[in-house]
Amino acid sequence: MSQSNTLICRNFIDDLDKAIGNVQAESIYILTDDNTKRLCLPKLLQSSKLQACHIISIASGDANKNIDSAVEIWKYLSQNKATRKSLMINLGGGVVTDMGGFVASTFKRGISYINISTSLLGAVDAATGGKTGINFLGFKNEIGTFAPAKSVLIDVDFFRTLDAANIRSGYAEMVKHALIDTREEWKRILAFDLENINFDELKNLLVSNIQIKERIVEQDPKEEGIRKALNLGHTFGHALESLSYRTNKPVLHGYAVIWGLLCELYLSHIKLNFPKEDIIKLNYLIKEYYGQFHFDCNQYDELLELMTHDKKNESEAINFTLLADIGDVRINQTATKDDIFECFDFLRDGQ
Ligand code: GLY
Repeated sequence: MSQSNTLICRNFIDDLDKAIGNVQAESIYILTDDNTKRLCLPKLLQSSKLQACHIISIASGDANKNIDSAVEIWKYLSQNKATRKSLMINLGGGVVTDMGGFVASTFKRGISYINISTSLLGAVDAATGGKTGINFLGFKNEIGTFAPAKSVLIDVDFFRTLDAANIRSGYAEMVKHALIDTREEWKRILAFDLENINFDELKNLLVSNIQIKERIVEQDPKEEGIRKALNLGHTFGHALESLSYRTNKPVLHGYAVIWGLLCELYLSHIKLNFPKEDIIKLNYLIKEYYGQFHFDCNQYDELLELMTHDKKNESEAINFTLLADIGDVRINQTATKDDIFECFDFLRDGQ
């Protein structure tokens, strides 16, 4: 299952035409949401290969990434004569690419699909790597498949309309990739100016950054081992994100991830002697661009409970991915309650 199918576009329409040409589909169905239909679809429709395509649109937002929306899309495909040789093009952020990939990978036992990520977060995470899914019974991505897209197209011009918070949210996953890769990549990430975004520089950074994920996914497409490296920051991060929703102060996914990374680097320091100076560098980046996650010690038990129910755990113990150094990944790590609470203290007071 080779995953080297992601293209950071230089000429979007040419690249799109080529990706569509590689599939040789009998018919094409573009999945959009309310936002991407309005803001991004017109650009796609400049392609001569999309003049006779079908458009399917769903309501925006994670709340719609569910079985009802999937049924609506399957219905549309069936009623509009999609065949096994049809192509789906998923145009959107993580909700659209996850759900579109899921619907495509199950319709008639699987049709080809292309992801076009319109958010930075989606580009560096959901759109690449072949994981598809929908939420079910309150659990995120509870139902899904491993089914790689034929192509993933990333055009940074789509990111120009994102606000600063959404750029920073996506950037957090790029920080994670750099940490699990090399000191060189870590330095490049820290040198990027998030205050005055240079989109050409971002494009260059994305080329190497997305390759980090692709290399890992290629080795372990079904997350049986080293793909767990991509979970760095997410054991704490998911708990912080869930708490933010429970307390009606929702934070963007990448913000939870960057705070989760700080906790997990601190835990890496306690357990594996991860260098303190790199924690200080991350802390500086967070102070500058992400601010603080507000919580107090009365919420530690609830956070621990959330971490205990994380679906990444394989037994009773909470499963962490940690680092002994930049690029020196240790999967399947555990920690005591005291260690975990010390990380919460550091997140609250150390910043
Ligand atoms: N989001 C992490 C992964 O794709 O494995």
